[in-house]
Amino acid sequence: MSAVIDVNPLEKFSVEPLPTADSCLLVIFGASGDLTRRKLIPSLYNLACVGCMNPQFEVLGVGRTQMSSEEFRSKLRESASQSSDARDFNESHWKEFEQHLHYFVGDPSKDEFYDRLRERLGEMRKSVSTSNHLFYVSTPASVAGPIVEGLARAGLNMGDGGWSRIILEKPFGHDLKTAQELNAVVHRSFDEKDVFRIDHYLGKETVQNILVFRFGNSLFEPVWNRNYIDHVEITAAETVGVEGRASFYEETGALRDMMANHLLQLLALTAMEPPIEFEADSVRGQKVQVLKSIRPMTVEEVAKRTVRGQYGPGEIDGKPVPGYREEKGVKKDSVTETFAAVEFYVDNWRWAGVPFYIRTGKCLPRQLSEIRVHFKRTPQALFAATPYEQVGPNVITLRIQPDDGISIAFDVKQPGDHMRALTVDANFSYETAFGSKGTPAYETLLLDSMRGEATLFTRHDEVEAEWRIITPIEEGWTQLPAPAFPNYAAGSEGPVEAEALIAGDHRGWHRLSK
Ligand code: BG6
Repeated sequence: MSAVIDVNPLEKFSVEPLPTADSCLLVIFGASGDLTRRKLIPSLYNLACVGCMNPQFEVLGVGRTQMSSEEFRSKLRESASQSSDARDFNESHWKEFEQHLHYFVGDPSKDEFYDRLRERLGEMRKSVSTSNHLFYVSTPASVAGPIVEGLARAGLNMGDGGWSRIILEKPFGHDLKTAQELNAVVHRSFDEKDVFRIDHYLGKETVQNILVFRFGNSLFEPVWNRNYIDHVEITAAETVGVEGRASFYEETGALRDMMANHLLQLLALTAMEPPIEFEADSVRGQKVQVLKSIRPMTVEEVAKRTVRGQYGPGEIDGKPVPGYREEKGVKKDSVTETFAAVEFYVDNWRWAGVPFYIRTGKCLPRQLSEIRVHFKRTPQALFAATPYEQVGPNVITLRIQPDDGISIAFDVKQPGDHMRALTVDANFSYETAFGSKGTPAYETLLLDSMRGEATLFTRHDEVEAEWRIITPIEEGWTQLPAPAFPNYAAGSEGPVEAEALIAGDHRGWHRLSK
């Protein structure tokens, strides 16, 4: 690639203000955890600063750790003041905001807890004029079911003059069976319209943009199929390791953590048919069709079409990085994968025969999430100065992060006497074009759940369809001999076997090394 053309908006635009949330009491289970500190509270703080929180809102954090509401506020203040997620942190805004934060000590595995919770919420309702309850379950999947049952026993699933909704943080179960069980428990107490399963990738501006790019333009849709597309490559690469979450990660691994949700969602959005309208059930109905079109693999197919890896010691950005097995809390002989690559086929009319190569991994050379749609090459080389081997395919890259945007690679005539083709890249960047990357994912999703807008949340049948694809791979891996881990060095491109998975005529993973 030797030339870049920048693409900018043709029309004047102004950023529209975000809507305001409904009034509510937001109860967070897992309030002393990482997610609350790093994402949920900074997001609520930002929403409050831009005037999107309803003045009638209170947050009640629930946890087993003994602490007062004052201590809870001070811990959250400390992390919000250091977090890049709390934009423009400012003492006076925080002081105002923290008045809405409260803490409640309790053990959600005990029956008595839910009666106390109901009483506490009753007391809170005396000072805030709302009957709406939003329960955010940010706990391990095995605890989510009992929490939902406890809420229902205490009658907290019923809107008493208001609404009662539940947000479930991923993972939704551990495999198909546990996901089905969790869905059954949830549906005994909550109507599906009141269930918000968070997959934070769906809240990213660039992920929502996939649908606008595909269905807001007549240029691309006619060629978005097996007649013109050679293969699709989806990557979610991270430089970080397990970041102190070893006990969670040892149980989860890269396939369950990233591919069973975020990456299958990217695949579904890339491959789905146009919905009849942009509305929760139409969009989710089309995504589920794609997921159902991916045939579950046999053990033989798992052996051929998947690669797993685990990082050993290495170097990232010039700094030494310990291997996964040396991380605190990880077993010395752990066979948990920190890298996964899979070749999927979507067996429907539009996509039959087109491979979707998907990879994700920790401790890779750079952070990058993107979808690369590779078109078929021209049938012949017309220009003698550019032999056929050098005729590159057109590629559309939907960049999810960090350089949010889209680029399209195509050939032009290089200036000069010869008819020599040169590939250039037309580049659209959110930051350059709009001066902003848009609303961060958790802000969008929290706001949507407080407004009852479910389009960007995963429906029960999508979750089950995702596990129907992933569970046979997990089962295949337990039957097949584990690779000799570690099989890639931190800071490298991943296991060498991943190269063979995609190798073919003009096929190969996009290089991650800078
Ligand atoms: C989470 C995973 O869902 O997504 C983490 O549990 C991962 O392991 C994170 O690091 C990646 O999110 P993002 O938005 O940084 O790509």
